[in-house]
Amino acid sequence: MAVTPPSKLLLTDLVSTVKNVPPNYIRPINDRPNIVVKSSEDSPIPLIDLQDLYGLNHSDVIKQIGRACQFDGFFQVKNHGVPEIIIEKMLRVAKEFYELPESERLKCYSEDTSKTARLSTSFNVKNEMVSNWRDYLRLYCYPLEDFISEWPTNPPSFRTDVAEYCSSVRGLAIKLLEAISESLGLDKNYICKSFNKHGQHIVLNHYPPCPEPELTFGLSGHTDPNAISILLQDNVPGLQVLREGNWINVNPVPNTFIVNIGDQLQVLSNGRYKSVLHRVIVNGEKGRFSVPTFYCPSEDAVIGPAPELVDDEHPSLYREFTYGEYFRKFWSRQLGTETTMGMFRVTPN
Ligand code: OGA
Ligand code: NI
Repeated sequence: MAVTPPSKLLLTDLVSTVKNVPPNYIRPINDRPNIVVKSSEDSPIPLIDLQDLYGLNHSDVIKQIGRACQFDGFFQVKNHGVPEIIIEKMLRVAKEFYELPESERLKCYSEDTSKTARLSTSFNVKNEMVSNWRDYLRLYCYPLEDFISEWPTNPPSFRTDVAEYCSSVRGLAIKLLEAISESLGLDKNYICKSFNKHGQHIVLNHYPPCPEPELTFGLSGHTDPNAISILLQDNVPGLQVLREGNWINVNPVPNTFIVNIGDQLQVLSNGRYKSVLHRVIVNGEKGRFSVPTFYCPSEDAVIGPAPELVDDEHPSLYREFTYGEYFRKFWSRQLGTETTMGMFRVTPN
């Protein structure tokens, strides 16, 4: 049987042959990157040292995490416990993957958003009006043994390097979720328990250099649908976070991860913690690689505001749903349209 060719080429292969951004990448004039941007030097997102999470300053670290989740939705962590060598290998294998011949990479290509291991481009090729300047390999990675057989075997060290990275970052995710539970005044295990069997996805993003970076985005403004995201980026800037109406550059800091609250923790905290809009801009000279880990409930887990955080003064803002229902809704819409969270909001009366 003939294999149907993908309806869209990967950018990684297209980019060396184009001098202009193709028309389907050009954003409407009021939705372009060249608006006033404050650099992170003006108001950096908090940098939290996790060294003392289990030490004498435990309660202070918990307070810092709680404040960051409430007021910034984003923070950076250092002394996070993920070994440098594991991080280096992860970034190296991501770059090597995108350097493979096109025919090799295309073996993983799919536009079916329900697939648990797939290479694709932009965000959701099937239902978006304007494309994003990005290719991505999205892999489910927890439990590892359920998914690892679907992963690429080329580069040869791919499965070992990525598996090691996923296990190590999962440890960090659990630590952070316990700390976040505590910061909300909940039992330390509350969030982890409510996620049922848990889920974890990893994405290998490649943002190739762009001939006209002022016309398009690597990824347009969105919030993350999962519970918590842990972002590894190389040394090329590109991430921007919306803060008090301004897009702030979050420039790479060596040996740190960027952590952000996703929609599930906004719902679970009944709106106390914020899932904040962010986006990625591209540049003319350098390609950029980033590797976000998306930690989430398993699809059958029922998510809603924690009862302890609902009272007369703080009525429940969201209806209950399964994470599976939420995740399918997220992928059925376009970025930049009504937020998925909005669809689950209870109308106040
Ligand atoms: C994402 C995302 C940021 C980045 O993939 O959801 O926000 O810097 N990525 O690649
Ligand atoms: Ni994101």
